[in-house]
Amino acid sequence: MKRSILTALGLATGLAMPAAAEDIKVGLLLPFSGVYASLGNEIEAGFALGLEQFGGETDATFDIVNEDTEVKPPVALGKAKKLILQDKVDVMVGVVSSGVLGAVRDMVHGAGVPLIVANAGNDGATGESCSPFITRMSFSNGQVNRPMGQWMYDQGIRKIYTLAPDYAAGRQMIEGFAATFTAAGGEIVGQDFTPFQKTQDFGPYLTQAKSSGADAVYVFYAGGEAISFVKQYDSFGLKAELPLYGSGFLTSPLYVNAEGPAAEGVITALHYVPTIDSPANAAFVEAFKAKTDRMPSEFAVQGYDAARALIEATKAGATDRASLANALRQVSFEGPRGQLSIDPATNNIVQPIYVYETVAGEGGLTQKVLAQLPAEADPVNGCEMAAPVSN
Ligand code: PHB
Repeated sequence: MKRSILTALGLATGLAMPAAAEDIKVGLLLPFSGVYASLGNEIEAGFALGLEQFGGETDATFDIVNEDTEVKPPVALGKAKKLILQDKVDVMVGVVSSGVLGAVRDMVHGAGVPLIVANAGNDGATGESCSPFITRMSFSNGQVNRPMGQWMYDQGIRKIYTLAPDYAAGRQMIEGFAATFTAAGGEIVGQDFTPFQKTQDFGPYLTQAKSSGADAVYVFYAGGEAISFVKQYDSFGLKAELPLYGSGFLTSPLYVNAEGPAAEGVITALHYVPTIDSPANAAFVEAFKAKTDRMPSEFAVQGYDAARALIEATKAGATDRASLANALRQVSFEGPRGQLSIDPATNNIVQPIYVYETVAGEGGLTQKVLAQLPAEADPVNGCEMAAPVSN
């Protein structure tokens, strides 16, 4: 599925192309169907905006090939193979699900094709299964959730019930939160993992949470599952007696207005909210809104920063798979989320985390920042990073 050929320099500046400009073939590996389809489309929109805005800074041009993972690890592996072996892409960008990242990791590493992770938080990919070819511009599952353990304990919350979909991201997000919450002195009084992409009715799980004796509920859900969960939590009448917390994908600006008033008062944490007060974010929000007529979400910024990282790598002279991989892990810039860098020990991004409450604003629901928690590199979790070599 070949969508477009973007001539970055020509588009952004209107100048004639230099004769020796490199054409970089990019495989965009994203879900365009399934429970995370809206996330895939949003990352693609952010990526296109990033190429448009920063493309003029490099001589390289970008030829984009899109493939749909359908949020299914075996399908995604087939698509990654096709991009690498048949399309012979120089670099891949994308992957939303931690399950998909786990499935394509060995293929990416073995073939020596750089992958800029534009969402999937799989801790292993920047931990024990790290690779010099995998650089993450999004977040890791532990990184987003760990800071909430201490923060919630400090708010006086002592007993928590947790819920998340039963796959790698659900398990790792809850594990990251539970580790710091229990270390602070809190107790996880019960937990459930719901069948991923299959759970329509959260009622039985909410009944368990209600009778657990918890002070609050902490969850990870995203995309279509987040919308159903937040609505059902509210219509069950639980919000007042058992406040709802979680990782911030739960109330992402991408779909919070589909959740409506049910999302009001929910407190979560994330690496980006569109209300961050900085000139770089204001410029990004304005440009994204002008293009799409909606506020950008964390998924948009991940695509945008992935494009910028790719452009930075080509500016540093990288053209082939190994040199791109090497340059990508050295990028650092100030983006809409603040100052970003890549931890050389794991290739994971280092960034602040924002605790925010979803509140009613003038133009719909918005994100009120309650706390900015400092950027901390993830523990290396068994990663032994080697230098990328050409093959
Ligand atoms: C993941 O599977 O890693 C994942 C998916 C959706 C999110 C966040 C993480 O919003």
